[in-house]
Amino acid sequence: CGIIGYTGKKSVKDVLLNGLELLEYRGYDSAGIALSDPDGTKTEIYKCAGRVADLRKLCEGRKLTQTCGIGHTRWATHGGVCDANAHPHRVGKVTLVHNGIIENYEELAAEYGLLGKLRSQTDSEIAAGVFDHFYAGDPYDCIKKAVGKLKGTFAFVLMFADFPERIYSIRNVSPIVAAKTEDGAILASDVTAIGKYTGQYFVVPEYHVLTMTKDGITLTDLDGNKKEPEYLEIDFELNMSEKDGFPFYMEKEMAEQPRVIARMLEEKTTEDLPDFSGEQVPDSLLTSCESVCIIACGSAMHAGLAGQFLMKKFLHIPVSVEMASEYMYTDPVVDEKTLVIAVSQSGETIDTLEALKYAKQKGAGSLAVINVKGSSIARESDAVLYTNAGPEIAVASTKAYTSQLALFALLVARMAYVRGDFTETETRDFVRELKRVPDAMEKVLAGKEKIHHIAGRIISAKDIFMIGRGLDYFIAMEGSLKLKEVSYIHSEAYASGELKHGPLALITEHTPVVAVATQKQLLSKEVSNIREVRSRGADVVLFAKEQLMPEEEEGYLTFELPDVRDEFMCLPAAAALQLLAYYVSSDKGYDVDKPRNLAKVVTVE
Ligand code: G6P
Repeated sequence: CGIIGYTGKKSVKDVLLNGLELLEYRGYDSAGIALSDPDGTKTEIYKCAGRVADLRKLCEGRKLTQTCGIGHTRWATHGGVCDANAHPHRVGKVTLVHNGIIENYEELAAEYGLLGKLRSQTDSEIAAGVFDHFYAGDPYDCIKKAVGKLKGTFAFVLMFADFPERIYSIRNVSPIVAAKTEDGAILASDVTAIGKYTGQYFVVPEYHVLTMTKDGITLTDLDGNKKEPEYLEIDFELNMSEKDGFPFYMEKEMAEQPRVIARMLEEKTTEDLPDFSGEQVPDSLLTSCESVCIIACGSAMHAGLAGQFLMKKFLHIPVSVEMASEYMYTDPVVDEKTLVIAVSQSGETIDTLEALKYAKQKGAGSLAVINVKGSSIARESDAVLYTNAGPEIAVASTKAYTSQLALFALLVARMAYVRGDFTETETRDFVRELKRVPDAMEKVLAGKEKIHHIAGRIISAKDIFMIGRGLDYFIAMEGSLKLKEVSYIHSEAYASGELKHGPLALITEHTPVVAVATQKQLLSKEVSNIREVRSRGADVVLFAKEQLMPEEEEGYLTFELPDVRDEFMCLPAAAALQLLAYYVSSDKGYDVDKPRNLAKVVTVE
């Protein structure tokens, strides 16, 4: 979910609505704002199920001149999507917005007599009831007492009816950033929404009370001690709202990939040797580890799987990839000889952040592969490599994912070089070959109409399979996730060799099977697996490396992927499968950029 709050001289309605639009990638099933009147007579709330655009319509034509307020865009956790469950919530004199999950909400509702009085089905309204219970005229005292009762993760932003034009905030895990501005003070769940008003921001420390008035900001710990905010610079591109003539951000972001990757490869190499000195990643971090553990979620985890493949192949050390949401609960073997690599586009995914903290506690060294500068995971890690892919707006990750793939290749080259697995010449050859990848991806993008045609063959499918071996399996996993996310077709990625152990039972006449074949060593086996599904009636679409494309057979749809070294074929292949998902979704008339039920940044566990 996304949060914004402002008090100052501007019309707060505009600050909130514009900010919420920038935060919509954190959730877009409902939105709301609360506006505080200067004389304290009332707090007006406007909220509805739907997008920020719907909230804007709700506010249209009303004279809303207030200059202090809070706003929220929701991704439902507790309670369905309806007007009543949208934030802000008001109980008594307290109005609040909340990110996170309150785990002990049932006990709290019973303990504070809230049952039967609630207007929504949210844990957030119960929390508002708890704050109201402890409110006896002093917001600081109320917050201190109430948070002592709440279990879970939270970022609360509150207004108290007796204190007009003031905003309070407290958080645990879920982030809140804030800044004093020229004419007041602003806060948000991340810097994206406040960059227009300030060049600096600070992260509100956990369990500290933030108070914002028109005259500035105060920060106090729960013992009442004042604390100076530690300001950071905002140094990322803020120009993120233009589609540049593309119908959807996803298409724009796919098209940007060759440029993004070429730029990254230039930035992070010197004379064709990987060079991370610009980002101050010490070689000691890369040489001292005896094993690597990659933690991530979603597409970032799929990039991690490809990274793992390269690491095992070239570094000859144990490398595991862990789903961040499962990591801490599986008694992982992690110690000071482990290098943990947290991969995240946003740098805000709570599961990844918590897994990273856990590994650090056990003594592991940490490196983050992140897109958004200054994000929570970046701040938590010993060192950070930025993918610098620029803002990614579409919920389905494209350029962020492929830039992670390219960065993993570069990281492996650096590690192999400094650990003595590659000679200098081998490292340079590896990097030079990697630099051919952007052109190969450009060629895939140029062939988009052919992929559009292929999309027509699977558009009416209910279920499809994507298969591959080795690296191709990991690419199939990401291709399958893309298709599921944006086109709502059930797609399952399978390692080709495993098909006969179950899924083959589901292959019948005209079941679409998308096969990826880019690895020379595995080609003959992959071709056998393709024959197995064809002989059961499957309609096969084959994405294969040009050099490896088998003799064309009747009824077989094919797409040739430009040749680069086998280990890097995942990049052009990924671009091809992204296009496939994109065209199925857009031809179905879906909102490609905002798939139902999903959010770009997932800040709940
Ligand atoms: C969400 C997004 C995915 C993303 C995943 C991990 O589910 O919709 O596209 O891969 O979170 O996000 P992160 O920001 O950590 O890469």
